[in-house]
Amino acid sequence: MKKNDTVLDLIGNTPLLKVRNLNTGPCELFLKLECQNPGGSIKDRIGLSMIAAAEKEGKLKPGGTLVEATAGNTGLGLALVAASKGYKLILVIPDKMSQEKISHLRALGATVVMTRSDVEKGHPEYYQEMAERIAGETPGAFYVNQFANPANPAAHEEHTGPEIWEQMEHRVDALVCGVGSGGTLTGLSRYFAKVSPSTEFVLADPAGSVLAGYVKDKTLGKAGSWFVEGIGEDFIPPIADLSRVARAYTVTDAESFAAARELLRAEGVLGGSSTGTLLAAALRYCRESQAPKRVVSLVPDTGGKYLSKMYNDFWMADQGFLKGEGKGDLRDLVGRPYGAGAVCSVKPDDTLMTAFNRMRLYEYEQLPVMEGGKVVGIIDESDILLAVNGDAGKYDSRVSAHMTQKLVTVCPETPMSEMAALLGRGLAGILQCDGKFHGLITRVDLLNHLRRKLLAPKENAE
Ligand SMILES: Cc1ncc(COP(=O)(O)O)c(C=O)c1O
Repeated sequence: MKKNDTVLDLIGNTPLLKVRNLNTGPCELFLKLECQNPGGSIKDRIGLSMIAAAEKEGKLKPGGTLVEATAGNTGLGLALVAASKGYKLILVIPDKMSQEKISHLRALGATVVMTRSDVEKGHPEYYQEMAERIAGETPGAFYVNQFANPANPAAHEEHTGPEIWEQMEHRVDALVCGVGSGGTLTGLSRYFAKVSPSTEFVLADPAGSVLAGYVKDKTLGKAGSWFVEGIGEDFIPPIADLSRVARAYTVTDAESFAAARELLRAEGVLGGSSTGTLLAAALRYCRESQAPKRVVSLVPDTGGKYLSKMYNDFWMADQGFLKGEGKGDLRDLVGRPYGAGAVCSVKPDDTLMTAFNRMRLYEYEQLPVMEGGKVVGIIDESDILLAVNGDAGKYDSRVSAHMTQKLVTVCPETPMSEMAALLGRGLAGILQCDGKFHGLITRVDLLNHLRRKLLAPKENAE
């Protein structure tokens, strides 16, 4: 077995897996598992190549500073390589990014500078402009800029492409890719133009991105928004060369998430959200094909960082991506149904410490107190504060002594207007009738329900 001297030796040479249990029509479909890079994504490759190129060109000296604008996988790839090579890294991050990603970057030693996510290109606080400015003001700093850095596509032309070519034994009919910066597609397309010009390039693009429209009729439509991370753009990145893309598929978030979840169940591969987009497009391409073809696509990043989102049924239901039967009453509002084991609760003789720890763990402000399958009280943050303020020893006292027993219960057939009025007064409704508890209804549940109603017709129209 090959011995690896540093973590950087683990970047690239990722495995290729044949899809066995999904319907690929007359075709064979293979997935390049980029999720197996040490930072969990394909972007480790460009972290390595862009830093190596800057060193070679003398733009980065030992102990120097890298600056980039991203909270995504590129930040993680750069942070991994920077930590291993002893460079400082400053990442400028829009304030809508998840705490998990920011914590991961900080834990790798990166300095995180937060900026506004509600401003556009041209504004001084726009994340890319801010990164460029910080690089200009920091002695010995290098602005990485993956969107215009030639070492980005070069990583794929020199490594990802040849790896696929060898793993596929020199027979590749089509490659299905997404575009974020365009590095992957441009690099692969340059390499295959040399070794196999007949290999067809297929773009997988999230609904809302302008790229698929541009491939189809060379016009730039109006960009929308999408949940899938890492691919899709509202502009054509300077390094993106789409000239060899023969076909483009637009894939909705709902279809992407369903495909990624199906891949996990069918093949045991835990891919990220864009994996679903690429897989959905690849499967459509394969099933539409009249002839048997050897098709390759990618698992660009791991699904580990999406566990609380697209791999969480309740998050999927909150967003309207998983639809229940629809009972036509207040049961449709319950985001965490008791019957599905989704309610976090405490018992009357649990301590306040237990209640508080559970609230923090699940980020709830209140918990139902359950006994014999029924709600007998509600304990919230102010109950705990009243009890422990001035006497922290009270954390050991029982929930039953501090919970609210005046409960606001509603039945499934209670009118929605009544429910909305209750929530408006700051109360959570307990959906409990004839001794049967269905779940809590909070303001977030009502807001999610209204959003699902708003989005449903639009989604069907796509
Ligand atoms: C999560 C993710 N990041 C990055 C990429 C590649 O993007 P780029 O165009 O920047 O090479 C992809 C492509 O599928 C992706 O899914």
